[in-house]
Amino acid sequence: MANEEAQEVLPRRGAGTLGRDDIGRTVRLQAWVQRRRDHGGLLFLTLRDRSGIAQVVVHPDDRPEVAAALEPVRAEWVVEVVGEVISRNENVNREMATGEIEVAATRVEILSRSEPLPFVLDGKIDASDETRLRYRYLDLRRPELQKNFLLRDRLTHEVRNYFHEQGFLDVETPILTRSTPEGARDYLVPSRVRRGSFYALPQSPQLFKQILMVAGFEKYVQIARCFRDEDLRADRQPEFTQVDVEMSFPTEETIYALIEGLFARVFPLGGIEAPIPFPRMKYADAMARYGTDRPDLRFGLEIADLSEQLKGSGFRAFQETVAAGGVIRGFAVPGAAEASRKQVDGWSEIARKNGAAGVLTLKRKNGELSFQVKNALTPAELEAAATALGLEEGGLALLIAAPEKVAAPALGTLRLELAKTFGLIPAGKHAFLWVTEFPNFEFDADEKRWFAVHHPFTSPDPRDLDRMESDPGAVRARAYDVVFDGLELGGGSIRMHDSALQSRVFEVLGIGAEEAKARFGFFLDALRYGAPPHGGIALGLDRLAMVLASASSLREVIAFPKTASATDLMTEAPSEVDGRQLRELGIQVAAEKKD
Ligand code: AMO
Repeated sequence: MANEEAQEVLPRRGAGTLGRDDIGRTVRLQAWVQRRRDHGGLLFLTLRDRSGIAQVVVHPDDRPEVAAALEPVRAEWVVEVVGEVISRNENVNREMATGEIEVAATRVEILSRSEPLPFVLDGKIDASDETRLRYRYLDLRRPELQKNFLLRDRLTHEVRNYFHEQGFLDVETPILTRSTPEGARDYLVPSRVRRGSFYALPQSPQLFKQILMVAGFEKYVQIARCFRDEDLRADRQPEFTQVDVEMSFPTEETIYALIEGLFARVFPLGGIEAPIPFPRMKYADAMARYGTDRPDLRFGLEIADLSEQLKGSGFRAFQETVAAGGVIRGFAVPGAAEASRKQVDGWSEIARKNGAAGVLTLKRKNGELSFQVKNALTPAELEAAATALGLEEGGLALLIAAPEKVAAPALGTLRLELAKTFGLIPAGKHAFLWVTEFPNFEFDADEKRWFAVHHPFTSPDPRDLDRMESDPGAVRARAYDVVFDGLELGGGSIRMHDSALQSRVFEVLGIGAEEAKARFGFFLDALRYGAPPHGGIALGLDRLAMVLASASSLREVIAFPKTASATDLMTEAPSEVDGRQLRELGIQVAAEKKD
C-alpha cells in the first residue's frame, strides 16, 4: 500500500521525454495507445502523447494482472502506465527518439476507451479529406500535424515578443463592426435590437488601426482574426489570422526594416534564413518580367518582350496584335526542346484559360531554330527573337501574342507551370521580395468604374496627384507587398491622413460625398482631428506558419479549417437555425430559386 501511494504522487512524464538517463527510474505515463503488439509471449504498447512516443513492455509471466488489464486495450485508448525504465540493450530502435529504452509496466489503468477508429492514425493515411475533417480531433493527433501547431505556437510567441520589444501596443479591435472594403464579400451578422441592421465581420481591422493612430497610440499590433467571403484555395481561408501592424510617422523604409527584422527572427523557426534587406521590385517590372505581382524568384525563366523585334515580321498574328496595342512576349526554358506535342497542347490550354489564343513555340535544336508556324518568320527574325529570349541549344521558348493584360498573367502562370514540370525550382532555395509602386487604381471593365488596388485608404504617390482625375490608371500607390517564393505573405501601405485627399480618392472611386459620409463618416471625421501621418502592413499569420512548416495548404496549420465551400465538416457549420431565432431577428429566408 505504501508503495502504491508513493506511485500516486509520481509526476506525470511525457512519453517522448524518456531517455537513457531515466534507466532504473519508476515513471508514470498517461497517454494514448498508438499501437499494441503481442510478440512471442510479450505484450508491447507504443504510447503517444504530445511530447512523443515510448514503448511499454509487459511480461505476462511476471505481471499476469497487468497483461490481463491490457487485454481489451486497443488503438487510441487512453491508459496510465507505471513502470520501470529499462535499457533495450541489443534491441535499440534508432528510428525512435526514445528507442534506447522501454518501460516495463508494473501497473496499468484504463483512463478512457475508444471506439474503433474511422481511419488509422498510425502509418499511411487511408481516409478521404472529408472523413479526416469530420474527425478533425483524430487527425490532429498525428505527430505531423501536432508538430505544425507547436511551430505555430512558437511563431506567434516570437511575433508578440518582437513587437513588444519594439514598443508596439497590442490592442484588440471589434469583431462585430461595419463593413470595411478589402475587396471581398462581407460576412454579415443580423442585429436583433435594430431589426434590418447588420454588423459585418471585419475583413481586416483597417479603419480601427488607422483610428488608433489618430488616438495617439503610435505603434499598434494585433494578431487579428479576419473574415472574407471569397473564393477559397489552398492559401485562402474564409476566416484567417493577420499580424496587423500600424505606425505613426513611418516611411516605407520604416515598415520594410520592421518586417525584415521580424522575418530574420521567425524564419529560422522553419529552418529558413531570411537574408536582409530583401530585394525590391516595382510592380510594373514584376508584371513585365514575371507576369505576376508576386514573382517567384527562386528560378529564372524571365519574360522578354519581343514586340519591337517581331512587329514588322510577315506573320499576321504578330503584326495585328502589336498594331492593336498588344504585345508579343515569351520566355525560354533551358533543356525543354524535347517537350511533347501533348505537353505543348497542355500549355496552350493554360494560355487559353488565361484569355490568350494559345502559345507558340520556338526551339533551338541541333543548332537550328524552328518556329511552330513554319516559314512565318525569317531566319534573322528568329535569331533576334532567340537572342532576346536567351534561348540556348536544347531550349524551348513559349510565346504569346495578346493584349498586355492577357499576355502577362498567362505567361506568369506558364512560367510557374514549366518551372515545376522541368524541375527548375532548386530544393532548399528561397527568395524574399518587396514589390513596390503598385498602381493605386484599377479599372473594372464590367462595372465600368475604378477600384482601389490595395484599399481606398492607401495614399497615392504625391508625384502623381496631379493626374488623379485625368488619368487614374497612371497614379502609383504608396503600397507594398512582401513576397516569399511566389506567395504573398503580407501587404500594406502608407495611408492618407488628410481628409480632403481621402475624399478626393473616394470621388475617383465613384464614392460621392453623400455615400462617403454614410459609409465612412466616422473615419473622415477622425481624420479631421489631428491625424498623424501613418502607415502599416498586415501579414498572413496562417501563411507564415504554412511556409515555416513546409506545408502545402493552410489546412495543415489551422486547427479547425473550412473546406473549399467554406463549411466546417466537424461542426457542420454553417447550419440552419431555429425558426424562433429568425423571427426574433426579423429575418425570412426566401425560397431558393429554381433554375
Ligand atoms: P491584405 O488584404 O493584402 O491587406 O491582407 C494581408 C495579408 O493577409 C493574408 N490574407 C489571407 N490569408 C489567408 N486567407 C485569406 N483569405 C487571406 N486574405 C489575405 C495574406 C495577405 O498578404 N488591411 C490590409 C493591410 C494594410 O493595408 O495594412 C489588408 O488586409 O497574407
